Amino acid sequence: MARFHPLPVAAVDRLTDDSVALTFTVPPELREEYRHAAGQHLALRRTADGQEIRRTYSICSPAPAPAGDGPRTLRVGVRLVDGGAFSAYALKEINAGDELEVMTPAGRFSLDPAPGLYAAIVGGSGITPVLSIAATLLAREPEARFCLIRSDRTSASTMFLEEVADLKDRWPERFQLVTVLSREEQQAGLPSGRLDRERLTGLLPALLPVERVAGWFLCGPFGLVQGAERALRELGVARTRIHEEIFHVDPVAPTATATAPAPAHSTVTARLDGRGGSWPVQDGESLLETVLRNRPDAPYACKGGVCGTCRAFLVSGEVRMDRNFALEPEETESGYVLACQSHPVTEKVELDFDR
Ligand code: FES
Repeated sequence: MARFHPLPVAAVDRLTDDSVALTFTVPPELREEYRHAAGQHLALRRTADGQEIRRTYSICSPAPAPAGDGPRTLRVGVRLVDGGAFSAYALKEINAGDELEVMTPAGRFSLDPAPGLYAAIVGGSGITPVLSIAATLLAREPEARFCLIRSDRTSASTMFLEEVADLKDRWPERFQLVTVLSREEQQAGLPSGRLDRERLTGLLPALLPVERVAGWFLCGPFGLVQGAERALRELGVARTRIHEEIFHVDPVAPTATATAPAPAHSTVTARLDGRGGSWPVQDGESLLETVLRNRPDAPYACKGGVCGTCRAFLVSGEVRMDRNFALEPEETESGYVLACQSHPVTEKVELDFDR
């Protein structure tokens, strides 16, 4: 189960005017706990004025090899978000030598290196997990190739420029980079403007053999990921080859299911870290909130249906979810739910966070 540990900040590197990379040192006794797959994320926690804030950030450093030790360091990318309490703190106040509460890695937007052609379409800070995926794949699998299509506003606002250029220098034959800038003219021949469904449908077949791509990784703002998925589906790519991670979803957009009637009194039974309990669900609250009132160690990060940290198995009963940007269709079909988005439909609901 995901846990927080205090980790020292080894470095704070300014990437652009509005983003930094934070590097944490992982002590030897915690390296196994922080072992991560390429593409996973972790949550950072801070308590200010008596209020706890958690935010999820993707790991940009390559994943450790399965046979060796866990990671000695972990690096995450943080971009300033309008009104973002944590990102403003990260950019202005965190210094090397500070200590931060860091959750162990989680998330299923990941790739186990294997031979073949892989591709990613990313926007803005969506490059962060994909940098880890591409670097891990290229270093570990000599029979793999990677095509990165990234979009940003200008080159000055582009995160991890150097790190991506480094991949190109190290693996010129196996790494293909296409940069699309929406607010800056580029050299002749390079595309500019917004990457939407229509443009991608035309652009992708000209860039790579779409049908031979073993896995597509889409990451960035909701509009870009949705447009890219539609373009790929139009080009005949199977849903199972498309992996998505969405950053920046507008807060709350309750779906039609939110109007489904809720039982007057319902109880949630939850198993968490080997221990169980049953508690009444208060009017309107999510199952995560009910569990958290009684078990503050319940896992969560975004509370917005995006990160997947609160994933639990629905053992019995029925729930409705407000929204889900984190679970794959196969996961919901096999019975997993996001506790932060779930409300009871039946009087009794049983969740297992350990499964
Ligand atoms: S806490 Fe992020 S999806 Fe529930």
